[in-house]
Amino acid sequence: MNANARELAAGFDLENLTPEFYIDPYPTYRALREHAPVKRMPNGAYFLTRYDDLVGAYKSTKQFSSDKKREFLPKYGDSLLYEHHTTSLVFNDPPAHTRVRRLIMGALSPRAIAEMEPDLIALVDRLLDGLAAKGEVELIGDFAAAIPIQVIGNLLDVPMEEREPLRDWSLAILGALEPVIGPEAFARGNKAVQDFLAYLEILVERRRQKPGNAERDVLTRLIQGEDNGERLTSKELLHNCIFLLNAGHETTTNLIGNGLVALAGNPAQKKRLIEQPGLIKTAVEEILRFESSNQLGNRITTEPVELGGVALAAGTPVTLCIGAANRDPRQFPDPETFDVGRTPNRHLAFGTGAHQCAGMALARLEGAIAMARFLARFPDYALSGPPLRGGRARFRGFLKVPCEVGRMG
Ligand code: HEM
Repeated sequence: MNANARELAAGFDLENLTPEFYIDPYPTYRALREHAPVKRMPNGAYFLTRYDDLVGAYKSTKQFSSDKKREFLPKYGDSLLYEHHTTSLVFNDPPAHTRVRRLIMGALSPRAIAEMEPDLIALVDRLLDGLAAKGEVELIGDFAAAIPIQVIGNLLDVPMEEREPLRDWSLAILGALEPVIGPEAFARGNKAVQDFLAYLEILVERRRQKPGNAERDVLTRLIQGEDNGERLTSKELLHNCIFLLNAGHETTTNLIGNGLVALAGNPAQKKRLIEQPGLIKTAVEEILRFESSNQLGNRITTEPVELGGVALAAGTPVTLCIGAANRDPRQFPDPETFDVGRTPNRHLAFGTGAHQCAGMALARLEGAIAMARFLARFPDYALSGPPLRGGRARFRGFLKVPCEVGRMG
């Protein structure tokens, strides 16, 4: 076992993952944490798996930069994907980052989020009615993915009848962030940015003509921020809208999908949550920890740094493995156990520090309402076939989950 773990850690290469890794990366993460927590990969980048090392890197924006202009150039060349990813706030340092973040955060205030709750409940209940009418359902397409796309659509006030392409655009653009991509994924990603930009230009123009409520509508905030001398260029405006849609979509879909699958596979925890619905908040945190929707983050060192006795030169790309840190036994007792009542639970599913997820309160609300209402309505739901994994290292979730909810729900 130990020899195996050592071998797993020694042979680990993010650019060359095995099919077993995609199904269950946690044995590899554990081996890395124990035997090579600051792991040098063949391409010279480092892979971090310990909780404390991730917190240190996330908190030190001075030593660990988020700016990807240099790193993404060989991967994307002079393409729209390059333009998009290097303009998003998440892949920038201050001051570009701070300016955009301030504008976005204003629309995601606790009050703004509390106001979204009634619409969210109505949306979830409508979807649950649809599931009940079918009996045999597909949990991702019929439920988990339908929620965030509508919520973010509302946030940017995208007209209902124009929301359909958003999901595919988002999947294609985020898919291009995988550690290695082929020409097809590259072409798909570029085309999605192109189509998305073309659509947003129309939407922005309409909103300029007829501004929305700046308290709630992020697009109006970003436009007015630009006009008020916050100096958002029109490229920054468009790419950050795309980023917002993407950031809140697949991650939240995966939170709901991963949660319902994890509960189905842990009947005792499912029963506990049904009997004590008040546990839904800690349950959402545990799902975020146990099967983090976003497993990997990236930084680049700006100066020489020493980590766990390993010297990293300035300009070293570093991958922060959230999925591994969230099962670090030094931080979480019994980390491989799924415990819906776990407290404390200071997981890193939303990162931490200056770039900590701007939408985490919204994601938590979506997760809690979706899962609590699903469980109340369909306490006897059961998977009716093997769930199909998304096959991604960065975004962990399912593409399809066949499920029986019972027609009487
Ligand atoms: C379960 C759902 C979600 C997860 C797991 C998640 C995860 C994350 C993580 C790990 C980061 C930090 C990236 C880094 O530091 O490198 C992040 C950033 C961000 N997220 Fe989320 N996210 C979720 C949902 C959302 C939602 C619903 C929204 C918006 C409505 C959103 C908007 C953002 C934004 C704008 C950033 C960039 C913040 C910055 O760079 O300052 N996220 N998210």
